[in-house]
Amino acid sequence: MTTSSTTKTRPVNDSFALEVLEGLNGTPRTISPAFFYDAKGSVLFDEITRQPEYYQARTERGILDSIRSDLAAHLQGPIELVEFGAGSAEKTETLLEALDVATYRPVDVSASALEGAARRLGSRFPGIAIDTVVQDYHNPVELGPVPKGQSRVAFFPGSTVGNFHPSEAAKFLGRVARMLGKGGALVLGVDLVKDPDVLHAAYNDAAGVTAEFNLNALRHVNARTDAGFDVNTWKHYSFFNPMASRIEMHLVCTEAQDVRLAGQTLHFDRFDSIWTESSYKYTPQTMGELARAAGFTVETVWMDERKWFGVMLLRAIA
Ligand code: AVI
Repeated sequence: MTTSSTTKTRPVNDSFALEVLEGLNGTPRTISPAFFYDAKGSVLFDEITRQPEYYQARTERGILDSIRSDLAAHLQGPIELVEFGAGSAEKTETLLEALDVATYRPVDVSASALEGAARRLGSRFPGIAIDTVVQDYHNPVELGPVPKGQSRVAFFPGSTVGNFHPSEAAKFLGRVARMLGKGGALVLGVDLVKDPDVLHAAYNDAAGVTAEFNLNALRHVNARTDAGFDVNTWKHYSFFNPMASRIEMHLVCTEAQDVRLAGQTLHFDRFDSIWTESSYKYTPQTMGELARAAGFTVETVWMDERKWFGVMLLRAIA
């Protein structure tokens, strides 16, 4: 059972702390997955993508590599390529090589990640205009008109769409469809439903990197606020929930504790938990339905041999 005493002792105006507090006061208690990603969290995520159990990144890269000419046939240039949550834009190179891209517009909250990507890609692809957009794609992104003579193509790889709850995914896809306009294309990476044991292993790697990544949310909160979570007393707990078709990541408290945060005292009993992330797994059909409701048609779906991951080409209708 959860008991939470809340004693306000001073005014609170730090928006980060307030957002964390709101999640921790909710039912169930949550910390947004956005809070995994401080500098250490980004390094840990990169490490996750190299773990033998975490098949997503390399499977998606394999698919993208194998469909270069197919993609080029579907997406004729010159193209303005917009990438959401581009970060260091590792997967983008395949698209920049395969397609006739005139302008590349990576969108990300991290200005430093975008600068690094722009520098690297700028020297690799000197003929492509790179225009970085420092914005959070969870909110509406203002891009302005498509450059004259170019067609807009959006890229959202990595199955990051799975980290939205389906209702949020529908809203996001709706915004993308409107931003693209009639005939605009979205190349979407989607992790597919599969044997639960495979999914379980991917989020419980033997080296413990995903556990560290999950616990890093508490370290990040400790560093950015006055909170003093005793991180060593929290445990990574992650599983596949087949009824909701999602991986759920939680942090479970193994020793009761009081945590002061932004003027409040939050009490955690032993075995209380904080829900830190959902990673929804789709079939081409369930994602197709979501995409159609959001204003797309499904043009093509490419999958690897095991049908573990899909790259979908969606076309905006209106
Ligand atoms: C970024 N996102 C697609 C990853 C996923 O698989 O949902 C984040 C992640 N969480 C744990 N491992 C990887």
